[in-house]
Amino acid sequence: MKSELVRFGVAMEEDLLAALDGIVQDRGVTRSEILRDLVRAEVVRARVGKGAPAVATLTLVYDHHVRELTEKLTEFQHRLGDGVRSTLHIHLDENRCLEVIVLHGRSDELKRVADRLLATRGVTHGGIEIIADEPPQKRAPAPARARARAHRHEHAQEHEHAPAPARARRR
Ligand code: NI
Repeated sequence: MKSELVRFGVAMEEDLLAALDGIVQDRGVTRSEILRDLVRAEVVRARVGKGAPAVATLTLVYDHHVRELTEKLTEFQHRLGDGVRSTLHIHLDENRCLEVIVLHGRSDELKRVADRLLATRGVTHGGIEIIADEPPQKRAPAPARARARAHRHEHAQEHEHAPAPARARRR
């Protein structure tokens, strides 16, 4: 289902607008398309903050000689059950292990899990990358966008393409 487009005014500093128009020129898209992309990205980011379904990679570097650390980490992962989708373990040297844990769950829970593991004594480095696990929202179809861009390279700036895809499809 396609949502109606609504027009609204945007106030912006002149130099910021000039920078935006530079990107508009370079990419052969419209101001509206760029703003919509930015807003979509921000909406996803906001959802990740609020506990949306997400996938994550948690990277840990730890010293396996620290008492009970390996057991603690393993036990923790067992408790997460299905939340752990995959684990990669590399023995970096005599002391250090590198572990990458692929997790699935609510973003806020994943963040909590990560904070706890990263704070565990013996874990020296690490971090988590959380990505909202949802299909991308409806937008101008990707092939058409790619085509519009490729097109522009072929014949420089002869004509505008940007709003074409939706209209062309209905014919
Ligand atoms: Ni190891």
